[in-house]
Amino acid sequence: MTGPGTPDARAVHAGQAPYSPLTLRGYDPLVFGINYRFFWRCHPQRMVDLYERNITADHLDIGVGTGYLLRACSPSARRRIVLVDLNPHSLRHTARGLKGYEVSSLRADALRPLPLPPSSFDSAALSFLLHCLPGTIPDKARVLDHAAACVRPGGRIFGSTVVAHGVPVTSAARRLMAYFNRRGIFHNTADRLEDLHAELASRFASFRLTTHGCVALFEATTG
Ligand SMILES: C[S@@+](CC[C@H](N)C(=O)[O-])C[C@H]1O[C@@H](n2cnc3c(N)ncnc32)[C@H](O)[C@@H]1O
Repeated sequence: MTGPGTPDARAVHAGQAPYSPLTLRGYDPLVFGINYRFFWRCHPQRMVDLYERNITADHLDIGVGTGYLLRACSPSARRRIVLVDLNPHSLRHTARGLKGYEVSSLRADALRPLPLPPSSFDSAALSFLLHCLPGTIPDKARVLDHAAACVRPGGRIFGSTVVAHGVPVTSAARRLMAYFNRRGIFHNTADRLEDLHAELASRFASFRLTTHGCVALFEATTG
């Protein structure tokens, strides 16, 4: 299944493949303790704040990793959480860490329409997902449609991604990004901030796009 705008199945697989039980154990200290601060130049608290501003009691989380941000934001904001990820280890690891909430998991590819009832959540997050997905921003922005289809009108869509163009990228960050792209962990060499802005603007009447270092944070209201 390849062609213009069609994700290459091997590249899609590669974007979720690194998350094994072993790597998930080291993910939070490495990603939130080191990469965010010293390479992407975005303090993890910015991401916690993004969650705090947008998460609702009826939440869909797509591309869950370890669930660090779900655990880090204030518990009073959450009740039902549905986890979506292509990787079963990420789903298991995240679900295990979320105590006291109604949690369910769905293994699915975010690049395809999600097999969930339409308009059934009040918020959906796609945090650090886009840079894992193959294609250009216009190709991978279909995940915004898939997330938005699950959210009720007036609900929140939010997330973040490491972009390669239109933001300050230090030489250390450029080298780490190149390494991750060679390994297939990231697919963001063509990702441009202006493309993300255009994709948000074409879908949402109301949205906010901010940057911290080379991380773009977006938050939008569904129509
Ligand atoms: C970098 S982690 C982000 C984790 C978390 N949201 C965070 O902010 O730390 C990316 C997650 O997206 C998942 N993923 C990658 N490609 C995917 C796809 N095509 N569909 C669904 N999940 C995918 C990976 O398995 C992984 O759990």
